[in-house]
Amino acid sequence: EKGGFDSFMLKEIFEQPESVHNCLRGRLIAEKGHLQLGGINKYIDRLLYAKRIIILGCGTSWHAGLVAEYIFEELARIPVEVEYASEFRYRNPIIYPDDAVIAISQSGETADTLAAIELAKSKGATIFGVCNVVGSSIARATHEGAYTHAGPEIGVASTKAFTAQVTVLLMMALMIAKKRQNVAEAQFSELLYELESIPEKIAKTLKINEEIEKIAHIYQHSSNMIYLGRGYNFPVALEGALKLKEISYIHAEGYPAAEMKHGPIALIDEEMPVVFIAIKDNSYEKVVSNIQEVKARKGRVIAIVNEGDNLISSMADHVIEIPATYDVLTPLLTVIPLQLLAYHIAVLRGCNVDQPRNLAKSVTVE
Ligand code: M6R
Repeated sequence: EKGGFDSFMLKEIFEQPESVHNCLRGRLIAEKGHLQLGGINKYIDRLLYAKRIIILGCGTSWHAGLVAEYIFEELARIPVEVEYASEFRYRNPIIYPDDAVIAISQSGETADTLAAIELAKSKGATIFGVCNVVGSSIARATHEGAYTHAGPEIGVASTKAFTAQVTVLLMMALMIAKKRQNVAEAQFSELLYELESIPEKIAKTLKINEEIEKIAHIYQHSSNMIYLGRGYNFPVALEGALKLKEISYIHAEGYPAAEMKHGPIALIDEEMPVVFIAIKDNSYEKVVSNIQEVKARKGRVIAIVNEGDNLISSMADHVIEIPATYDVLTPLLTVIPLQLLAYHIAVLRGCNVDQPRNLAKSVTVE
């Protein structure tokens, strides 16, 4: 049932070209300029004309929500707030009837997310679900939604659910952008083609697995690690750190790279590995200077870069090369090496990656 893999987690990481493809299937046909989410229909105007979108989730789903905040603001031009469901539900939050709420959950059973949905619903907001498990409690509690169709995720560490969530959220944002005429036809079409090619690019990205395993050997005994990224890839840094924490029990922190100088930089010495997402997007130059700051303090730098990046290769201790794509789509690729890095480090430390201590696959208690 693990399909020849040593664990469900590794199987699920390697399934991502297929799971993202399944998520896109029938919904996006670039050649025809077709983009439609069948599950979002009756209430679509509530999403299109929402004054504000509130995104709710926990853990990895919350990270997907943070990525979506950047995507929605860029493409759909609607203000977005992303909330931990557990905080939102106890905060007497301000919710207007013309708010659209997007609740993200792999299992569809997370107690905090479900309670936050009920609260938002009671205040008249329209709730859209992004769930993986068909017919789950959250899927049933929402007005409408789009399934991620990633297939069953067994490993406690969420991997393929994250990339499918981001894919659905991208499709939602693109749909809104098109209908609100925020993107030019040509740009819209290019984005559709590029999104369609993402499964292939994920497959290419997965080829770096062995290289990552080598890096994992070097850092397996670390007691701390920092993950840094900017823009669309700041939430990916958080996600990389969460993956490492939960399955290898190494303490890891994710930060927006520019925040480093406001505190965490004090942690950096020759013992501190720092993982940078340093691809050629609109924050590339800024990230390059953040890498220099870490190197000047003797930190060890592992950088996720685009193929053929000689500048960062000359500065970093290790580089992991991934294919290039449009900025807005980069999280779908940059997260892959971080999943693999956490996986290999955890295995080398003898941890049970599928069932890490103290954790359950769905958190049905608050
Ligand atoms: O099923 P959900 O997406 O609602 O679960 C939310 C979190 O419990 C989940 O993402 C958790 O953080 C994962 N173990 C992370 O890998």
